[in-house]
Amino acid sequence: MDARSAALVRANYRSVIDAPNGPERLVSAFYAHMFGENPRLRELFPPAMDMQPKRVMTAVQFVLDHLEDWDRAQHFLEQLARDHRKYGVEAAHYDIAGRALVAAFRTYCGIGGWSDELEAGWRDIGILISASMAIGANSDTSQPFWEATVVGHRQVLEDLAIVRLQSQTPIPYQAGQYVPVSVPQRPKMWRYLSPAIPTNPYGEIEFHVRKVENGWVSPAIVAETEVGDVWQIAGPLGGLHVDRDTGSDVLMIGSGTGIAPLRAQLIEMGRRGDNPRVHFFMGGQYPCDLYDVQNMWQLSLSNPWLTVIPVCENASNPWWYPHPPADPPFGMHRRLIGNLGAVVASFGSWSDRQIQIAGSARMIAATTRALVAVGTPEWSITADPV
Ligand SMILES: Cc1cc2nc3c(=O)[nH]c(=O)nc-3n(C[C@H](O)[C@H](O)[C@H](O)COP(=O)(O)OP(=O)(O)OC[C@H]3O[C@@H](n4cnc5c(N)ncnc54)[C@H](O)[C@@H]3O)c2cc1C
Ligand code: HEM
Repeated sequence: MDARSAALVRANYRSVIDAPNGPERLVSAFYAHMFGENPRLRELFPPAMDMQPKRVMTAVQFVLDHLEDWDRAQHFLEQLARDHRKYGVEAAHYDIAGRALVAAFRTYCGIGGWSDELEAGWRDIGILISASMAIGANSDTSQPFWEATVVGHRQVLEDLAIVRLQSQTPIPYQAGQYVPVSVPQRPKMWRYLSPAIPTNPYGEIEFHVRKVENGWVSPAIVAETEVGDVWQIAGPLGGLHVDRDTGSDVLMIGSGTGIAPLRAQLIEMGRRGDNPRVHFFMGGQYPCDLYDVQNMWQLSLSNPWLTVIPVCENASNPWWYPHPPADPPFGMHRRLIGNLGAVVASFGSWSDRQIQIAGSARMIAATTRALVAVGTPEWSITADPV
C-alpha cells in the first residue's frame, strides 16, 4: 500500500473514531454487514457484545499503526486468528469480515465523505487483514481449547473462590502465563484467568477468582460453580517468567488474585534445586485479603531462597470478618502496613532485580510509578496487559 493511501485511510479512521460514539457505531455496522452476509455467524457471539467496540478497534488501530512494519501487524493478526478458533471462527469467515470492515467505514465515512481512493485504500486494508487472519487460522492444527472438569470449589472470602479443575490431558501452559476461560454458567463469554499452580501430569489446574461488582462472569464463578461443571480453557498467553540467564535476583509484587501467576512460578521453582533469591510482596487491603499467605509461608519454610513479605493497608480485619489476623510463623517477615507500592519502594530501588508486578491495572500503574520514582529502571519491570 502506498504512502498516500495509508495517510488517507488513517485520516479517515481518526475522523470516524473521534466522532461521538464512533467506535460503537462503526463496530455495530461491521457486525451488521457481517451478520447480513451470513446470519449464522451471530451464533458464535455471546448474547451481550458491549465489550467489543474497544477491543476490535484497538486491533484495527494496531494494524494501521504498523502498515510500514508489516511483519509485526501480520504476526499480531495471525495470533488473533489462532485465538479466534476458540470462538468457532474459521479461515473462510475472514473474507466476509474484510468486506464488512470496508462497508462499515463506507457507512460512517466521517469528515470529507467517501471517495474512490478511500474505497481502494480500505479494500486493501480489508484484504491484508483477512488474508493474514486466514493464514493464522489455518496455521494451527492443535485443538482450539481443552475441556476441564471442576473437582473443587472453595469460597475463601465472601468475594473470592479457589477453583480446582482436572483435564484429560495437561493444558500446555508455562507457570506465569494466563489462559482464556469459558464457564457453563456464562457460555461464550471468555475471560482471562491466571493458573495459580504449574501444570502437572494429572491435568490439574487451579484458578483464584475475585468477584467484580456488576461483572458478567466472575460473580457466577464465585457463587455458582459446582463440582462436575465442565469449563473450556484455550491456549495460553503472556510471558511472566524468571529469566535465569541474567543471573539476577527477583522481586515479585502481587495483590488480590494477582498473586496467582507469581504463586504458580514459585511453586514451580520449589521443584528445582537452584534458584535466584526471590522477595515476594503480597498485598491486600486487610489482613484477611491475604487469603493464601499461609501457603506461601509454608513454601518459604522449605525454600530458603524465598522471602514472603505480607503488606496490608489496614492493621486489623474489618469488623464483619470473624477471625483475627494470623501471626507469621517463627522466622517469617512480619506484616507491614501501608500502600503496597510505597512499602516496596521504601526498601530502595531494587535496581539489581528482575521485577514482576501482578494485580489490577490501577495497582500495577501505582506500584510502577512508586518504584520508578525511587530509581527503578522501568525496563526491569514486567506485568501482564490488564
Ligand atoms: C491477563 C489477565 C489475567 C487475569 N487473571 C485473573 C485471575 O487470575 N483471577 C481473576 O479473578 N481475574 C483475572 N483477570 C480478570 C478477568 O479476566 C475478568 O476481567 C474479571 O473476572 C471480570 O470479568 P467479569 O465478566 O466479571 O466482568 P465484566 O462483565 O467483564 O466487566 C464488568 C464491569 O467491571 C469492570 N471491570 C472488569 N474487571 C475489573 C476489575 N478487575 N476491577 C474493577 N473493575 C473491573 C469492567 O470494566 C466493566 O465495567 C485477569 C485479566 C487479565 C487481563
Ligand atoms: C476484521 C477481522 C476481525 C478482527 C480485527 C477481530 C478482532 C477481534 C478482537 C480484538 C476481539 C477481542 C479479542 C478477545 O478478547 O478475544 C474479537 C472478539 C471476537 N471476535 Fe473477532 N475479529 C475479526 C473477525 C471476526 C470474525 C470473522 C468473527 C466470526 C465470524 C469474529 C468473532 C469474534 C467473537 C465471537 C469474539 C468474542 C466476542 C466476545 O467475547 O464478546 N471475529 N474480535
